[in-house]
Amino acid sequence: MGKQITLRPDPRVAEVLTRNPYPLPDAVAELVDNSIDANAKDVLIRFIRNENKVLSIQIIDNGSGIKESEFDNAMQFGYRNPHKLRDIGMYGVGLKTSSLSQADELLVYSLSKEGKPAGRKWSRKNLDTSKLDYLSAKDSADVFSAVNNANSAVVLQRSGTIVEWQKVHDFERSLNSVDSYLKREMRDVERHLGLIFHRLIEKSVINIHLDIIQDGQVVGAPLKVGPINPFAYKKTGERGYPKDFGLNISGVNGRVKAVAHIWPPRTKQLEYKIPRVGGRSNTIDSQGLYIYYNDRLVMPGGWANVRTPEAHFSLARMEIDLTTEAMKVLVIGYSKNNVRIPSSFIEALRTAKSVDGTTYAAWVDRAQEIFRTADSAEIKLPALPRPKTGLPAVVQSAFGQVESPAGTSINIVWGALGQSSVFKVDRINDRLVLNNRYKKEIIRGGIGASDASSFKTLLLLMLRGHFGSRESARLKAMENEYQEILLSLLGGKK
Ligand SMILES: Nc1ncnc2c1ncn2[C@@H]1O[C@H](COP(=O)(O)OP(=O)(O)OP(=O)(O)O)[C@@H](O)[C@H]1O
Ligand SMILES: [Mg+2]
Repeated sequence: MGKQITLRPDPRVAEVLTRNPYPLPDAVAELVDNSIDANAKDVLIRFIRNENKVLSIQIIDNGSGIKESEFDNAMQFGYRNPHKLRDIGMYGVGLKTSSLSQADELLVYSLSKEGKPAGRKWSRKNLDTSKLDYLSAKDSADVFSAVNNANSAVVLQRSGTIVEWQKVHDFERSLNSVDSYLKREMRDVERHLGLIFHRLIEKSVINIHLDIIQDGQVVGAPLKVGPINPFAYKKTGERGYPKDFGLNISGVNGRVKAVAHIWPPRTKQLEYKIPRVGGRSNTIDSQGLYIYYNDRLVMPGGWANVRTPEAHFSLARMEIDLTTEAMKVLVIGYSKNNVRIPSSFIEALRTAKSVDGTTYAAWVDRAQEIFRTADSAEIKLPALPRPKTGLPAVVQSAFGQVESPAGTSINIVWGALGQSSVFKVDRINDRLVLNNRYKKEIIRGGIGASDASSFKTLLLLMLRGHFGSRESARLKAMENEYQEILLSLLGGKK
């Protein structure tokens, strides 16, 4: 090997890491990760406001707190903090990068069983020089008292942590519209946390609360976050599902649990079109892969690079649990809101089979089929007139067999009409009158009869609205009816 030198990272790296434009609810979720790792039973997301704007946000938990001797390490970017096997934290950056991507100042107050409340503060402007501020013991104790005096959902007795963001960039938008801003933002935070931590909320590992404080007192009713479980359908969309595909990924020891689900079609449940940050809610974002690490969602839907999302895949969702082994190839992003999916994983999916021999492809096909058939069942077709006389019996009965509701019974007759009309719609007598004058021509098929010109012409007139625009299930259903009736006329088979 040639010459090698040791390059120390420039302190500027820390500042660069905070330039991650992720939404506020994702950043809050990273602080909740830390509370869960600290064995907190309760977390409170608190918005602090005045008359005109939102001033700051606190994330308060009654976990084990940070020991004075570990506080500086906890504040350092990339420090390898000791972690338990079931922890969500792993990179040593979450607290700092999530906070300072949202706010210019991060204040952390903590109390562990051994000590007294202490505090540290990172300012964005000091990241370049790595200067961390110490907050006074008195200030720290005051912040703890303020939480305990405000009639809060979380009481901090022997230990706990309060993370506070000041100068939050997004809060500038709340100026003079605090109420509507908070309503929107709190709804986004509530739903995002409900989704990301749904398993831990359902298992009562953690309770997450939200409130607003003004002049030191809670205003309005505090909220408790409910779970949004992407697999909470009432009845499976297909018998035999969910099915475990147990993936064999190259380079990973043991199988990775991957459970394929098929949602029932056309449900009105909130979890079918999961509400997302910004108020979006659709089946495109809700289909696909849900990847968990220690019961925390690190990929909340979508197919990543596995396949292109399409409406027809709306019912297909897969629940995947990452093991430490699997994380050799499936890399969780440091902001915990995405997973890098390597080609070995895609290969494992494509070749996966459940115990009963069902393949990955068969799962996706079945989910598609159920979606499609349910789609056509929902279509309301217009009434179709029924011929009473004037057509052969088989054709008459073919009209009677279609799904469209029965329209008026019609007599089709020949009659005397002026030369400028081929037909007349006689609404009063429920008749379709064809002009006698052209009977011979009509029977013969008109000009170009040998090439069925009259048939083609009528067909095109009938299908005037079927071209150009996107294929719709409704048009398709009407075409199917036309096919059936015409087949009866031509003596063809269905
Ligand atoms: N709410 C909290 N309660 C107790 N300790 C905390 C809390 N928040 C942070 N810490 C301590 O600070 C450390 C650093 O947190 P940070 O989120 O930056 O990194 P991490 O959780 O170790 O890893 P990751 O980058 O994956 O989140 C944690 O490991 C933990 O020891
Ligand atoms: Mg963390």
